[in-house]
Amino acid sequence: MPALSASAPGKVILFGEHAVVYGQPAIAVPVTHVQAKAIVTANPRGTAGSVHIQAPDIDLDCYLRDLAPENPLAKAINGVLTSLSIEHPPAFNLRVTSSIPLASGMGSGAAISVAVIRVVAAFLGRQLPDEQVSALTYEVEKIYHGTPSGIDNTVVTYAMPVYFIKGQPIQTFAVNRPFTIVIGNTGVRSPTSVAVGDVRKNWQADPASFEALFAQIGEIAQQARLAIEAGQIEALGPLMDENHKLLQALTVSSPELDQLVDAARQAGALGAKLSGGGRGGNMIALADAANAQAIVQALIDAGATGTITTAVGS
Ligand code: MEV
Repeated sequence: MPALSASAPGKVILFGEHAVVYGQPAIAVPVTHVQAKAIVTANPRGTAGSVHIQAPDIDLDCYLRDLAPENPLAKAINGVLTSLSIEHPPAFNLRVTSSIPLASGMGSGAAISVAVIRVVAAFLGRQLPDEQVSALTYEVEKIYHGTPSGIDNTVVTYAMPVYFIKGQPIQTFAVNRPFTIVIGNTGVRSPTSVAVGDVRKNWQADPASFEALFAQIGEIAQQARLAIEAGQIEALGPLMDENHKLLQALTVSSPELDQLVDAARQAGALGAKLSGGGRGGNMIALADAANAQAIVQALIDAGATGTITTAVGS
């Protein structure tokens, strides 16, 4: 049997992170420049149920049976086996690689799960519907933080722009005029669980203030959707700036993120904000065709460890 492979893209959240955990809408888009990839090869000489896993990016080389059930790779593989009612699959080797920066708000965990779930199912002769892939990935996402909104697994599984409200069916939307964003990485790894957990503690301590912030962020996401659908790209910049201020108020920005956001604005970005869980990871800046390169250079000069320039809706 030839090797089978599956890939899934990274993602950025354009508007609405954190507030989306509390029922507000958020907008996310796939970033196909970076991908997670999972490859399965059959191991005809192995005993049934033996699964050898290699994930060189995280120095992992072991058997499925050696991983704790709460390990994300184990949970993804076992999720597929359980949902297909297969206890002892034919022996196989799984290799996982990813060019998505780890713990940086770009959905690396979700993308790895989606790729693994799809390729393991394919090896077992099944093509799972996107809905099921997304649901299984959501279960894995719970390991990273107990209360995921579901936006990461959704945008990465469907690989299209989403307007997401927790618990509601997926909504996509038309991008009337494509626009360019520059993504800048602070180089600071920041697990989503920590930022989400801190926001939760702050919300529990002061629900009224935090719910007001969530509602304002939700309002911005709604306005942003209308602007994107109407092709009013210029309107998105101030909405990003406003969203960043509200994320600062939620305490999820950081000096490194603020520095990159300021540098992008000074280089002519129409707006900029952190993206994802925050505290580190990535920020995004809205560029036009003329200033994208200047923004990239300004981000690097301000300490970004990597940048990605991507067009939304092209
Ligand atoms: C993480 O990419 C986005 C957060 O809003 C968490 C979530 O939605 O589950 C911070």
